[in-house]
Amino acid sequence: MTKDILTLGIETSCDETSASVVKNGTEVLSCVINSQIDIHRVFGGVVPEIASRNHIENIDVVVKEALTRANVTVSEIDAIGVTYGAGLVGALLVGVAYAKGLAQASGKPLIAVNHIEGHLSANYLTHRDLQPPFISLMTSGGHTAISYVESSKKYTVLASTVDDAIGEAFDKVARLLGLPYPGGVEIDKLSQKGENNVKFPSVLLKNGNFSYSGLKTATANYINSQKMKGEEINVPNLCLSFTHAAVDGLITACKTHLKKYKCGKLAVSGGVSANSYLREEAKKLEKDGVKVYLPEMLYCTDNGAMIASRAYFQYIEKDFADLSLNAAPTLKLRGEISKGKK
Ligand code: KG4
Ligand code: ZN
Repeated sequence: MTKDILTLGIETSCDETSASVVKNGTEVLSCVINSQIDIHRVFGGVVPEIASRNHIENIDVVVKEALTRANVTVSEIDAIGVTYGAGLVGALLVGVAYAKGLAQASGKPLIAVNHIEGHLSANYLTHRDLQPPFISLMTSGGHTAISYVESSKKYTVLASTVDDAIGEAFDKVARLLGLPYPGGVEIDKLSQKGENNVKFPSVLLKNGNFSYSGLKTATANYINSQKMKGEEINVPNLCLSFTHAAVDGLITACKTHLKKYKCGKLAVSGGVSANSYLREEAKKLEKDGVKVYLPEMLYCTDNGAMIASRAYFQYIEKDFADLSLNAAPTLKLRGEISKGKK
């Protein structure tokens, strides 16, 4: 019998301080998430300086709690995985410095985890039977990409956003409407009572990539023109119409790639995979014989468990980092296009 591998995952890329212990990349033994949402809400968004300071205050308690809940000590852990990018540089550095210290003190290997690859791993936690190959739709606050995942090592980005990410567009539109942070969640709630009756441009470009800044501008123009005409804005209708425009192009693109790759599995991940409409539309693809994997809500947004899962697959490959590891705030998926490049 092969030995179980326990990885500790540490996540501090934005406004969640999180740590988790995962067995063999799929079984969550503990996942502690300390969210700073309430702290940042009064500012209408994440304040990087405040985020870093709170990570510093919380990280030791969060990691110790994750070990306690998993009923293990550091000496029983096989490797320490930490998010080193993408994210806010100051916030990332707190996790990276802590993980380096812990690795040095315990003699355990350090694993540098790309946060976005972490999101790709989130579905392994909810669906322990999920095996590549599959098409991945990653929808977060900083990245939007469709990839073909061939194995735990290899993926190819097939399409990505040329400007804003989908979550960023949700947050910006929420701000325009004066909704509290985090905007995506508020838009989701309000859209439940809405009708899809405002026409917005598709996010799907002719070349198969996505653009969210056009949708954001179209929404801003709509709000301004309604105001100028002295007409009331029906916020739920606007929220649902915006959501349709933000999601429909992604679903169309997923269908195209599922067909092209003759692939029967779609795994959706990232913060926006918590969105009700996106979840419904993705699930509808099952009518065409596609098996659709959605993470449970806890693993949609940022968490240490997805980082621990990703760290397991890197551990198997002996993909270790050393103490020169630094934060990489603009890290992308391999092959993802840079902002502004069509
Ligand atoms: O993956 P995530 O937690 O952080 C990043 O890596 O960026 O994603 C956060 C994003 C935010 O933009 C947030 O507004 C969005 O996910 N989000 C949602 C929902 N829940 C979170 N967007 C739409 N509907 C939701 N229910
Ligand atoms: Zn994230």
